[in-house]
Amino acid sequence: MNEPIIRIRDIAWIRLRSPDLDKQEEFLGDFGLVRAERTADRLYMRAADPSRHVHITEKGDPAVVSIAFWARSEDDLKTLSREASGASDVETLNEPGGGKRVRLTEYNGMGIEVVHGVAPLAALPIERHILNAGYDKQARAGEFLRVGSRPSQVKHIGHAVISTPEVVKSVEWARRHLGIVRSDDVHLDDDPDELFASFNRVDGGDDFVDHHVMMFGRHATSGLNHVSFEVQDFDDLATGHDYLKARHLDRHLWGIGRHTLGSQIFDYWQDPYGRLHEHWTDSDVLNNASGYRRHKRSAGMRSQWGTQAPQAFRDAASR
Ligand SMILES: [Fe+2]
Repeated sequence: MNEPIIRIRDIAWIRLRSPDLDKQEEFLGDFGLVRAERTADRLYMRAADPSRHVHITEKGDPAVVSIAFWARSEDDLKTLSREASGASDVETLNEPGGGKRVRLTEYNGMGIEVVHGVAPLAALPIERHILNAGYDKQARAGEFLRVGSRPSQVKHIGHAVISTPEVVKSVEWARRHLGIVRSDDVHLDDDPDELFASFNRVDGGDDFVDHHVMMFGRHATSGLNHVSFEVQDFDDLATGHDYLKARHLDRHLWGIGRHTLGSQIFDYWQDPYGRLHEHWTDSDVLNNASGYRRHKRSAGMRSQWGTQAPQAFRDAASR
């Protein structure tokens, strides 16, 4: 395979379009994101980590506009603009925090932004709870645990999953243009040569990074399957689950459970326009010594505990 043009550092944000920004902000606030900025036609939501924003909504008919990733340098933006077919020039971002960007179109037609130099904000304070686990019985000796009723405390954006009829070509495109590397591949049970899904992480070299930043799953049509956000821990995820359930019961799709590939504890919610937003915590982290594995679909795509994926999850492909 060709060498990648650049290697992204991380996922940066998701950019959606929604007709009603009030409705969008209400859901995202209950989901655990915090308003960073709002104009007449844009909503910027942040998480607890210092990134300026991790979720952008533009006012308009419902659409998934783009997924953004951090470049490691401004030089990488220039390289990408020069070498990737169909790439934009290096543009100045006229948004909070400034910065530069190159726009691309992914194999399935999904918009991709590769960005650099967006000024961060200070991290938000978070509540942290120490657990008295069975194997560490007195970690919180003498202290009480009270989580209260509140949204999850989202840490950062974690990954995006694209539904596609062409998993192989989609992954090839993403490895070439974004420099992601495979963590786990999943094939059909009865045909080891038929790729069903591919989990890819940032190429962090010796550094440990999340099990996947971008995943592709086989589907009849293409679109965004889901976008995912890390929360602080299991208590924080379950607290947010109850909070969302009290307000948006009809938007709960799947969870709480624990995935096999990536090992995250997960919980999936639909935003007001049907786009799937995941909470997760406790991901595997891998580096270049971690190797690569292939799995049968029936083994790899199972929940380790909790319910298995409903059909509506498997059908999700928002455009
Ligand atoms: Fe996910």
